[in-house]
Formats: sequence, C-alpha cells, structure tokens
Amino acid sequence: MTRVQPRRLCSVVLLAYVAWQQVFVTPTSRSRVARASLGFDESGALGDGGTTPLMMAAHKGDVEEVKGYVKNGAKLDAQDLYGWTALRYAVRADQVEAAEALIEGGADMNLSSKSGRTPLMSAASNGIADMVKLLLDAGADAKAKNSEGLTAYDMSMRGGETGCEECRKMLQEAVDS
Ligand SMILES: *[C@@H]1O[C@H](CO)[C@@H](O)[C@H](O)[C@H]1NC(C)=O
Repeated sequence: MTRVQPRRLCSVVLLAYVAWQQVFVTPTSRSRVARASLGFDESGALGDGGTTPLMMAAHKGDVEEVKGYVKNGAKLDAQDLYGWTALRYAVRADQVEAAEALIEGGADMNLSSKSGRTPLMSAASNGIADMVKLLLDAGADAKAKNSEGLTAYDMSMRGGETGCEECRKMLQEAVDS
C-alpha cells in the first residue's frame, strides 16, 4: 500500500485525534461496546473515568499506536478512575505485544488498581498464561497482595473457564524463588 508511509508521518496526530474522539466524544457508547466485548462488569473501567488514548490503544492491542505514544512521552503510568494503567488494560484484553511495548517503554508493571490488584493478579485471575509469563519474565512482583490479602497465586487457584494450571505453576515457582 502506497499510503502507509505518509500515514506514518502523521500517525500520532491522527491516532491521538481519533482516540480523543472515541474516548471523550462518545464515551458511553464506546465503553458499552468495549465492556460487552470483553465481558467487563461495572467495576471494569473503560471509556469513561480517566481512560487515556494510550489505555485505549493498549486495550485494542494497537502496538504501533502504543509505541507512538511511548516515543512521544505519554504518561505510561497514568491511572483511570479505578486505578487501571495502560498495562492493566493490555493485560485484561490479552494484548501481549502491547503489554511488551509498554514494559519496554518503562511502564511500572507493579502498579495496582484501587483494589490493590496488580496486572499480574489480573492475568492470574483471568487465566491468561502468556501474560503471566511476560510479567514474571519482566520481573513483576509475584508476592504483592491485594486489599484482601490475596496474591496472584491465590487468584490463580480457580477452576472453570478462568482456571489455568500453567499460571499456577509459573506463579508458584516465582513465589518460591
Ligand atoms: C516490581 O516488583 C519487583 C518485586 O518487588 C521488583 O523487583 C521490581 O523492581 C518492581 N518493578 C518495578 C518496575 O517497580
């Protein structure tokens, strides 16, 4: 496609504008659609309450957009109303490459939400093994506890759809080491 190069040149401005529109101009419809598609309940912030364009890009898994924000000095550790960071959005949506880009850019992987839930806990609780691995490899705190005193390992001890034997194994090893 011959349009790729010129698009790249102004991609940050363009994407920022699009994201701004999506986040702030139609917050309600945006958040409803995204929440529904991810199964977020009312405690899962999206689209309203301090969601930044970077968070939206992380959630969508738009790696180029995420890298653009990183390069342009966006606040990687900004938190929304619920204390969610861009990394947390990437983790929750299982966007491994976006999460990698954020970590490489220097995002604080240990920052917890208001309930004390770290990105690693989110990955563990939702049974997202590739994300548990990424975060542990990057040095995320495996021993952190949420406001109820639960660790990521504790949260991995669930069955059903979100149960994940591989996650339990990795987290157990991380805690033991
Ligand atoms: C995260 O926590 C771990 C364990 O306490 C620590 O080694 C690591 O440096 C922390 N990373 C950041 C980015 O703060």
